[in-house]
Amino acid sequence: METKVICPGSFDPVTRGHVDIITRAARMFDHVIVGVLNNLAKNPSFTTEERIALLKESLKGIDNVEVVGFDGLLADYAKQQGVTSIVKGLRAVSDFEYEFQQALTNKKLNPDLETVFLTSHSEFMYFSSSMVKQVASLGGDISSFVPECVHDEILARLKQTL
Ligand code: PNS
Repeated sequence: METKVICPGSFDPVTRGHVDIITRAARMFDHVIVGVLNNLAKNPSFTTEERIALLKESLKGIDNVEVVGFDGLLADYAKQQGVTSIVKGLRAVSDFEYEFQQALTNKKLNPDLETVFLTSHSEFMYFSSSMVKQVASLGGDISSFVPECVHDEILARLKQTL
């Protein structure tokens, strides 16, 4: 049986930490859907189309990865797509409570759905998309935080919103 999983997130924008988790998931499972949450209540800096395009560029060459936008409940979308597990990266202890809450909620909504956590690479465990945006907005260097191939695009786009 084909193992099909989803790596969901806001990806606003994609970071090297995201790419690390998705790349590792692609080695473990047959097919990985990268699900970009469409209707973000938290006012994303990048549109869904921009976030998808940046992810596609960053994940070029990984054949078993597909990047799509999704709306509504993750548990419903996963069922609709025949996904058996959600794969998420776990960074520092601070991530744990929220991730645990989400995993249990998704399990309640769709009892067939598992959540698999991959521990973040130590190099990527302290930063987030929000941190990238904050550093860029204050003129800092974000080159260690975002994939090299989309660095200039992300920076240019963030400068527009300053
Ligand atoms: O990158 P993020 O912001 O931590 O990703 C959060 C995401 C997209 C995985 C989460 O907000 C989500 O699954 N949203 C879809 C709505 C939903 O299913 N909510 C109930 C379970 S948390």
